Amino acid sequence: MKMFAGKVVLITGGSSGIGRATAVVFAQEGAKVVVASRREDEGQQTVRLIEEAGSEGIFVKTDVSQAEQVKAMVEKTVATYGRIDCAFNNAGFDGQYAPLVEQTEENCDHILDINVKGVWLCMKYEIEHMLSSGRGAIVNTASIFANVGFPTGSIYAASKHAVMGLTRSAALEYAKSNIHINAVGPGDIQTEMVERGLASMPGGKQAYEATRVMGRLGHAEEVAKAVLFLCSDQASFTIGQMLMVDGGYTVQ
Ligand SMILES: NC(=O)c1ccc[n+]([C@@H]2O[C@H](COP(=O)([O-])OP(=O)(O)OC[C@H]3O[C@@H](n4cnc5c(N)ncnc54)[C@H](O)[C@@H]3O)[C@@H](O)[C@H]2O)c1
Repeated sequence: MKMFAGKVVLITGGSSGIGRATAVVFAQEGAKVVVASRREDEGQQTVRLIEEAGSEGIFVKTDVSQAEQVKAMVEKTVATYGRIDCAFNNAGFDGQYAPLVEQTEENCDHILDINVKGVWLCMKYEIEHMLSSGRGAIVNTASIFANVGFPTGSIYAASKHAVMGLTRSAALEYAKSNIHINAVGPGDIQTEMVERGLASMPGGKQAYEATRVMGRLGHAEEVAKAVLFLCSDQASFTIGQMLMVDGGYTVQ
């Protein structure tokens, strides 16, 4: 029996990277997957990968920073599949890299709108539904930068610290309602986001990997497996935690 057979999973930021990989791994384990993201073509491509993995899914075009769109995303999921068992609030944005005094108000608003307001809005509407169905599991994507500082990425780091504030508070608020809320803490995972950053580094990916604890970047599938664990019954007494998937970055 597959671990998530018959379950319904909602994933934001599912059009690439960690979100897409998690959609595929959930599909391999039998889940029906709703892929929410801003990019239609890439989102539909994830749906095709879900089908190739032997399951089914739909794409819902969503900007997680817009309340009406997040509400509609949850409504569409419930209208299509009847419920939401697990939600992975993963959409995120790193913005511009610069020392704090050079950061702009526009960059600050953009990052916080997606990474903080977006996660809050997703949880708000998902939990509303889960309260009526009597159970659910939520995983938010935090980061190594929810634990440590990030020179040139101060606003991004602040946004990921905030994700943990939301995660821990909501985990406590809904613990007795049978809604389990946790986070994953990825670091140095090879996705579009990290590739954009590596492109400007001297020596590129190879030189960077040589400096990492495990001598390599992580794979999106390695984060996906942590998300599945947190959404499963195996994690039934774990709430408000950030499960690090960072190849040792934060234990140095
Ligand atoms: N790659 C890493 O090393 C790493 C490390 C720590 C945390 N993260 C976090 O992992 C998450 C996924 O990032 P990734 O590395 O897979 O990069 P990615 O750029 O491939 O994925 C980001 C996803 O979020 C979506 N997105 C962005 N803004 C959105 C919005 N307003 N509404 C809906 N969707 C939106 C993008 O379309 C994309 O699908 C992010 O929250 C990121 O901060 C990544």
